[in-house]
Amino acid sequence: MSGPYEHPYPNPELAETHPFVPHDHRRHTDAEIVTRARAARDRMAGRRSVRMLAPDPVPLEAIEACIEAASTAPSGAHQQPWRFVVTGDADIKRRLRLAAEEEERTNYLEQRMNPEWQEALAPLGTDWHKEFLEIAPWVVVLFELRHGHHADGSVKHHYYVKESCGIAAGMFVAALHEAGLCTLTHTPSPMAFLNQVFERPRSERPFVVFPIGHPLPGTVVPDLTRKTLDEVRTLVGPPPGDASG
Ligand SMILES: Cc1cc2nc3c(=O)[nH]c(=O)nc-3n(C[C@H](O)[C@H](O)[C@H](O)COP(=O)(O)O)c2cc1C
Repeated sequence: MSGPYEHPYPNPELAETHPFVPHDHRRHTDAEIVTRARAARDRMAGRRSVRMLAPDPVPLEAIEACIEAASTAPSGAHQQPWRFVVTGDADIKRRLRLAAEEEERTNYLEQRMNPEWQEALAPLGTDWHKEFLEIAPWVVVLFELRHGHHADGSVKHHYYVKESCGIAAGMFVAALHEAGLCTLTHTPSPMAFLNQVFERPRSERPFVVFPIGHPLPGTVVPDLTRKTLDEVRTLVGPPPGDASG
């Protein structure tokens, strides 16, 4: 079943050396696809970064299912170069808050962020206070695995680590939103303190911190507008199969 392909995937030699399985997929009609795509767009449009999370508990199973969803992300050479470190421990969350606030105080109050950066952040109303790290029921830190190890202990190179982690982070945010939870994509720069707090090796580098929970009742978010389709999409040439042009 190679259809229009002159060089079908996988090539027969490869197919003999590595296992392949049928792809599990249900095909929808064009109309269904458009409806589903628009529904996904509308659900994602309701996602916001929340900086006033409530202390109300959230089941660990929900966090874990979202991590599993994120971990289905495509990754360079399927190396899945990520680790999601999860904590709901009050003492650890307090340490995270204090360490993050120490860095952020330098960023905001001692001009470690240049004026252009500060100006870009102004509409968001953020400052050095990071209480949400202590108050949210869960904090998940996504670490990128800069390299792995072979069975003999030697270093295994990882490919496209940042791209892979960026996609996994996006899928994590989407899964949390689908689950009905809120989060903030938080990068309290520099993030080296996270290795100390979580006792992670140097081969793991903090990528993003996600405080997770329900929004505190009455929470507000910046009144942002998002770019329109015309601003973010460039269509080159007519759609395939379009005879009109
Ligand atoms: C890589 C990255 C880092 C971010 N770091 C922070 C941060 O440290 N603190 C913060 O308050 N928001 C942070 N944000 C959240 C953005 O400010 C937010 O996504 C943006 O303002 C759009 O708002 P929305 O997420 O509600 O659509 C970060 C977002 C991204 C993608």
